[in-house]
Amino acid sequence: MDENTLPERDVWSDWLRHGRDGGDPDYAQAMRALVERYVERVLDGAALQPGETFADIGAGEGLLALRALERTGGDLHVWLTDISAPMLQHARALAEARRVASRCRFLCAPAEQLKGIADGSLDAVTTRSVLAYVLDKSAALREFHRVLRPGGRLSIGEPVFQDEAVAAQAMRTVIESSPPEAVSPLLRLMHRWKASQFPDTDAAIRASAIAGYSERDLVRFAQTAGFADVHLELHIDTLPSIVRTWEVFINTSPHPLAPPLRTIMDEKFSPGERELFERSMRPVIEDPRAVNTERMAYLTARKPRA
Ligand SMILES: C[S@@+](CC[C@H](N)C(=O)[O-])C[C@H]1O[C@@H](n2cnc3c(N)ncnc32)[C@H](O)[C@@H]1O
Repeated sequence: MDENTLPERDVWSDWLRHGRDGGDPDYAQAMRALVERYVERVLDGAALQPGETFADIGAGEGLLALRALERTGGDLHVWLTDISAPMLQHARALAEARRVASRCRFLCAPAEQLKGIADGSLDAVTTRSVLAYVLDKSAALREFHRVLRPGGRLSIGEPVFQDEAVAAQAMRTVIESSPPEAVSPLLRLMHRWKASQFPDTDAAIRASAIAGYSERDLVRFAQTAGFADVHLELHIDTLPSIVRTWEVFINTSPHPLAPPLRTIMDEKFSPGERELFERSMRPVIEDPRAVNTERMAYLTARKPRA
């Protein structure tokens, strides 16, 4: 790719660098701590050793890849791959600032087609919060299998969004199957909000990269791709919410392809609806006892030796 024609930003860099934390430093710090916990878990699963070479697929700003170099030490080498050229540029700048760029290689490629990484050349493949956005997850798993050496390890950590879509779909069903006067105005707004961020019909859920699969499908995709010793843990944790203010709540979005609530309210709510929504939801969001449910699937597997 010609360095002079690279876009400076895209949907992925906008979210990773701004949309995820809404520009709030306290929230950004709390979010970072949460994400770092997921990264450590994926790295535990990868069991990287000094001298090995691995690829972090959908590396984003290099959080996992650069942490792996720090954590494992020695002469661990890493491929950072991503479809986002701006994110790879950012990751490269961070690697240079930390003086580890000589141990990094950067590849702008989709997870489903890692052209440039030779067959059987890697000791491990990691990916965190990437497969959720890949429509053909089976193709990505086959590609991970291709680039791993026999005995090579796979470690994945993915958010599971299906329940969010099912909740949006349930709201739609209630609204469509009830007499209009029986549906509360707040439920209509809740649905409009959720349906702007997640698919809310059977067909849309099935066709969706983020909601059209369950953690069990991840196991099936890995097995079908040829992996052995497939192990999946689904972690569902109700944690104290890290969203402490209404402003953070409306300025952030749950994933890179979802608009923040502020945009949804501006575009899809009347002034009266905005007022009703904020009056009803602000106390819930700013309640110090508020909790958030996190759903993460961690999968490890191995490419058979023979
Ligand atoms: C939520 S971010 C996670 C970034 C990083 N893995 C981390 O843990 O911080 C999702 C990343 O996946 C990348 N991505 C999305 N679709 C992809 C695809 N088909 N192939 C490779 N990367 C992809 C995006 O560019 C973005 O960097």
